[in-house]
Amino acid sequence: SAAEKGGYDYFMLKEIAEQPKAVADTLLGRIDAFGSLRLDELRISAAELREVDKIVVVACGTAFHAGMIAKYAIEHWTRIPCEVELASEFRYRDPILDPRTLVIAISQSGETMDTLMALRHAREQGSKVLAICNTNGSTIPRESDAVLYTHAGPEVAVASTKAFLTQLVACYLVALYLGQARGTKWGDEIHVVIRDLSQISREVERVLETMEPVRELARSLAAKNTVLFLGRHVGYPVALEGALKLKELAYMHAEGFAAGELKHGPIALIEEDLPVVVVVPSPRGRSVLHDKIVSNIQEIRARGARTIVIAEEGDEAVVPYADHLIRIPATPTLLQPLVATVPLQVFACELATARGNEVDQPRNLAKSVTVE
Ligand code: AGP
Repeated sequence: SAAEKGGYDYFMLKEIAEQPKAVADTLLGRIDAFGSLRLDELRISAAELREVDKIVVVACGTAFHAGMIAKYAIEHWTRIPCEVELASEFRYRDPILDPRTLVIAISQSGETMDTLMALRHAREQGSKVLAICNTNGSTIPRESDAVLYTHAGPEVAVASTKAFLTQLVACYLVALYLGQARGTKWGDEIHVVIRDLSQISREVERVLETMEPVRELARSLAAKNTVLFLGRHVGYPVALEGALKLKELAYMHAEGFAAGELKHGPIALIEEDLPVVVVVPSPRGRSVLHDKIVSNIQEIRARGARTIVIAEEGDEAVVPYADHLIRIPATPTLLQPLVATVPLQVFACELATARGNEVDQPRNLAKSVTVE
């Protein structure tokens, strides 16, 4: 009913708007007054955490994209090797697992069969499983050794939005906590990031306040057949997520690529007026990456692409090559997906609406996939 949707036309719109609160709720009570992480709820001792020598993240769909981003964060802040794998592929290739492997299973519903089978396989090999889940008491957390709940609240729309942002928050928390527990050389950086994370919900809100031009752009592209998405570093999984949203909702051919792969094939797809969304990393910090992506934008634009550039406020280098410029607030590199994903959700939702599609219940899809 309209009341359930809180005055929005679709649950998806309501859930996109709820993201600042979902992010804040997922952080609540987990950062103490001294800016340190409190995750005693994990029930894994610091001694056990110091034993971990490999982390494997398993998940499907959007949760898998959160896992890809987790890998960057985990390896950077903990120096523990981390793999991320589609849950549906995992157990069929006889993965190497032992009691020192920590498996992280990410699932909004907690009922996804592929993810459940992957975690059962991991536990049979003696690995510990930590679930990141949004649904209290669902099967995946019940069958795991530990659980970190995301507090997005119920997500009704089939296309995942607020659950994704809170999965990212949970992954950052786990990575930072492991880094904190193991005392890596990034101690100071970890402190700064915890502080930035505690303020990020306000930045998500700021992004939501500036979405009208994105909706307008989406409507203008309603007759297109294809949209490509490019990103690098954590912007790569963001590109994949943007493409997945567009497939699910707008039923359009949408593909995400690592920008560095362009020259290895995908650049052949570029033709006159093809919309290409580019997620640009911060020009601060890893500026080498930034410069490389700016030249990618130049290259595709020279071949006729219509460039839709998502870039940090104050990034002037992209301006000459952006047919459409979507600004996002400056964040630490690894946290950028929390703000960069939001315009892509809005874009897909509006495009779907413009094409007359059912936003909350896309064809052929179910909210939770309980078959393998
Ligand atoms: C995302 O928009 C999807 N509908 C889908 O990819 C989903 O993320 C996936 O099926 C995993 O679901 P889960 O998080 O409930 O395990």
